[in-house]
Amino acid sequence: MVSARILEASDNGAVAEAAEIIRRGGLVAFPTETVYGLGADARNPLAVARIFEAKQRPRIDPIIVHVADSEEANAYGELSQEAARILMERFWPGPLTLVVPKRDIVPPIVTAGLETVALRVPAHPVARALIRRSGTAIAAPSANLFSYVSPTEARHVAQELFDKLDLVLDGGRSQVGIESTIIALTGSRPCLLRAGGTPIEELESLLGKLDRFTESPDRPLAPGQLKRHYATRTPLELAAGSPDDLLLQPGEKVGALIWNPLDHPERFAAIEILSQSGDFREAAANLFGALRRLDRLGLDRIVAEPVPEVGLGTAIMDRLRRCSTPA
Ligand code: TXA
Ligand code: MG
Repeated sequence: MVSARILEASDNGAVAEAAEIIRRGGLVAFPTETVYGLGADARNPLAVARIFEAKQRPRIDPIIVHVADSEEANAYGELSQEAARILMERFWPGPLTLVVPKRDIVPPIVTAGLETVALRVPAHPVARALIRRSGTAIAAPSANLFSYVSPTEARHVAQELFDKLDLVLDGGRSQVGIESTIIALTGSRPCLLRAGGTPIEELESLLGKLDRFTESPDRPLAPGQLKRHYATRTPLELAAGSPDDLLLQPGEKVGALIWNPLDHPERFAAIEILSQSGDFREAAANLFGALRRLDRLGLDRIVAEPVPEVGLGTAIMDRLRRCSTPA
């Protein structure tokens, strides 16, 4: 089996080598504070095409363009709106993506033909160093196969995409653990497209109430927001309350992803606790790793306990709902 090359990002020359691969049209998986990205030169359509192939991602699903700072962002998208300036100032670098009218420099393959582009300035120092060294913006979706759980560690990427990319830069575990929040600034009011690492409450305290994107067949504005996503191969269901209340079949091997301690943990074949202390940040950082661990155990099913939908809890519940949607 061919195995992906993994380089410790802090090793001498690792980032420089990764940047060289990007400049030559190759694919590099790199750490961001949210999840690992599968990156290519955003200005090179052939390189971006390789991302779609590697992930088996449908071409209708546009890709986020990662830039080093607001000034570079402005070369790729139109960011002069008041709301854009407020959000960039307060939340960049960090887990917030802005969808704005695109500039011509962005090839259509990146935006799946849309007239808008999603822009993000990641906070992870390795991501920023890579963008700077590459001398170009980096188009990057999460570095997982389409519709599977997002990767928060270099080895997740190496296991899944081992022969489909040129290099994995290892920058440790992603600290936020859940993808960026996406806001569209293309209509008359800011609109939330995806809950994520920047809590909605923080955005609304600055901008007032945000519109919510509602999915409908004639509004393919967030084509990546598919109902089934982030999904384990083991069927996962979102419990109505505590997994303690669930009926299990005799001999059934069930894993539990929990928020509160269980009264009867012995009923479950495996248990993952999102956070011992009820901390949403810890829970978000653990979510995808916990799902991947449960998914490796050959369980009959996984049950997840709902978490309160405040702060990052909203983004966690969004992922659990999509993960629990049947194929
Ligand atoms: O935290 C993140 O955002 C991570 C890291 C790697 O930066 N990236 C990420 O990319 O989650 P991806 O491709 O897994 O999810 C990006 C989402 C997709 O749902 C896509 O449809 C949406 O962003 N998107 C990208 N461009 C868009 C556009 N122009 N309009 C609407 N949605 C867009
Ligand atoms: Mg993704």
